[in-house]
Amino acid sequence: MRAVLMGPPGAGKGTQAQVLAKGAGVPQVATGDILRKAREEGTPLGREAQSYMDRGDLVPDAVVIGLIEERLRQEDAAQGFLLDGFPRTVPQAEALGQLLAGLGRPLEDVLLLDVPEEAIVRRLSGRRTCPSCGRPYHVESDPPPADGRCQSCGTELVARPDDRPETVQARLRVYAESTAPLRDYYAAQGLLRSVDGLGPVEEVTARLKAALQG
Ligand code: AP5
Repeated sequence: MRAVLMGPPGAGKGTQAQVLAKGAGVPQVATGDILRKAREEGTPLGREAQSYMDRGDLVPDAVVIGLIEERLRQEDAAQGFLLDGFPRTVPQAEALGQLLAGLGRPLEDVLLLDVPEEAIVRRLSGRRTCPSCGRPYHVESDPPPADGRCQSCGTELVARPDDRPETVQARLRVYAESTAPLRDYYAAQGLLRSVDGLGPVEEVTARLKAALQG
């Protein structure tokens, strides 16, 4: 699998990417998770990314492109990968295309999770996230364990600061302006498959699997 999973904030990319990547035996490469980890560790990358993330803006292209280049050159990505949250702009997509062409491993699939705005707002307002392994929960549809700790790794769950309603609105605007144009970009290459992201998690997973070509 050499695939991109795209979609608006809260569409379920992280939820689905964890399952699909595990099933295919490839790494899930999530730029949001990498940036949050760097922020927590207080690295120069994390300090640079923080103000953009807190406002709901995109981190500059050069920063995330550098980060992805380094990640996809690692050995575990040689047999495939599932990108979650990257690319998010046309320049990011172009850089990815060049990198993969150079490695002789072109993209096979771009899956777009389609979820309407009312559902997104509901999902993000109830989300709790594991700051360590990135696993998302939802207070109603996927309730966290009673002790408030991640079922996979035992870390205390948190509400993400960028899930505040005003920041969610900013992220939705940024998605419409900068990321939605990627639909046409990948459709023109014959790679894009749009998948309905509403309904139980397992049903959405089955639709995504059916849409994969590679
Ligand atoms: P990032 O972490 O990538 O955030 P996002 O794209 O806004 O996506 P989310 O993580 O919010 O949502 P998701 O689609 O993964 O949904 P989830 O599975 O959690 O990026 C954060 C920030 O980092 C950006 O704003 C930017 O600043 C920066 N950044 C990252 N990548 C970048 C890049 N390439 N370029 C520049 N900047 C970048 O699900 C959401 C909730 O819904 C959960 O509670 C979940 O349990 C629930 N849920 C999931 N599926 C279902 C379902 N089927 N039914 C009901 N509930 C569901």
